Amino acid sequence: MRRPLNLPSDREAQGRTLGEEELALLEEVIRSGKLNATGGVMVPRFEEEFARLQGLPHAVALSSGSAAVHTALAALDLEPGDEVVTSPVTDMGALAPILWQGALPVFCDLDPDTLEMTGPALKARITPRTRAVVVTHLFGHPCPMDEILEAAGSIPVVEDCAQAPLASWKGRLVGTFGKLAAYSFQQGKHITCGEGGIVLTSDPHLARRARLFANKGWPYGEPSPDHEFLAMNFRMTELQGAVLLGQIPKLEEVVRLRRERARLMDELLQGVTGVRPPLRPKEGEHSYWKYTLRVDPEVVPGGAGALGRILKENGLPAAPHYVGKPAFELRVFRERRTLGRSRWPWKGARPGPEPPPEDPKDFPGTYQGLKRALVLPWNERYTTRDVEDMAALVREAVERLEAAGKE
Ligand SMILES: Cc1ncc(COP(=O)(O)O)c(C=O)c1O
Repeated sequence: MRRPLNLPSDREAQGRTLGEEELALLEEVIRSGKLNATGGVMVPRFEEEFARLQGLPHAVALSSGSAAVHTALAALDLEPGDEVVTSPVTDMGALAPILWQGALPVFCDLDPDTLEMTGPALKARITPRTRAVVVTHLFGHPCPMDEILEAAGSIPVVEDCAQAPLASWKGRLVGTFGKLAAYSFQQGKHITCGEGGIVLTSDPHLARRARLFANKGWPYGEPSPDHEFLAMNFRMTELQGAVLLGQIPKLEEVVRLRRERARLMDELLQGVTGVRPPLRPKEGEHSYWKYTLRVDPEVVPGGAGALGRILKENGLPAAPHYVGKPAFELRVFRERRTLGRSRWPWKGARPGPEPPPEDPKDFPGTYQGLKRALVLPWNERYTTRDVEDMAALVREAVERLEAAGKE
């Protein structure tokens, strides 16, 4: 086989866009001696600039993407036992907040090609108790937001854009369709400050609730303040804000380069049997957090698992089946391990018997999509040569598996 790859990784400087701008802003914060955001400078500037980039008026910067999803749900003021329809293929940080807010997650089957929600699948999961929908724009691919909004009707939709900044659907940026949008700036995202998040909305009432939730319920700067409701400290620090302020002007170029390299990879993979590149959005633009192949196990012996093993042996850290299994198979959901032995909120959050667990038979698209998914890392710093080497490696690995399958 060919020489092992040595790709830039988002875990180290060569795969990140951090530089002098972030250092200068960080130095300003350190010299000021003021590191927290209450009455700070960097975090409000970051909020303003990120909101402007997205074309939304209100932003609340937060300590993580998980805090962002949590804050969005808290802003909606759910009642215990309310249902939140969500995706079974996402990060745990997008699911735990549903339980912390005393709501019941209701998982929706996904399109096997994108591992994303569709309007008809969402419609099938809505009940009179549904109070919110969380859609995940997975890997940078935009969800079909018009059919999702239509299916949701008057139920508020939260867009989880952690993996998809600047992705768009029908000419509009994702994050501008729902009531609230949540983003993550954890180490591996398009832009980063190590850990961080933000919530955006066009609704001033939701924005106020979101800000209160991130500030222990305390309305800084308002007359007669009081702790208005149960809430957390989810504030971003000035240090995080400074780094992100330096990162914002780089985001458009990061996404442009990722798209350009993805187009090259799409072309180079043409004609590799049994392997399809990530679906290009029908009416929108991908922002390529990852480059996820769809591997047909009927054609490539051993499927995504076998192909992923060969790629890894050759220096390409591929992740077969992404998160491995749908979230409802994880112990926390399967065994309902939450607060002590309470089984809250499935038990006790509303009258009546505990709802039954999800039935795997209701999730054909999700299982098929996960079985075929082979997630490749993606990065704006890949050179043309890197992409050519990756594509050649995939092609050779498929040929090797096919040849072994014929023996
Ligand atoms: C879709 C999605 N939602 C939420 C999160 C949670 O973000 P964080 O890790 O910043 O808490 C992630 C993180 O990977 C994510 O990918």
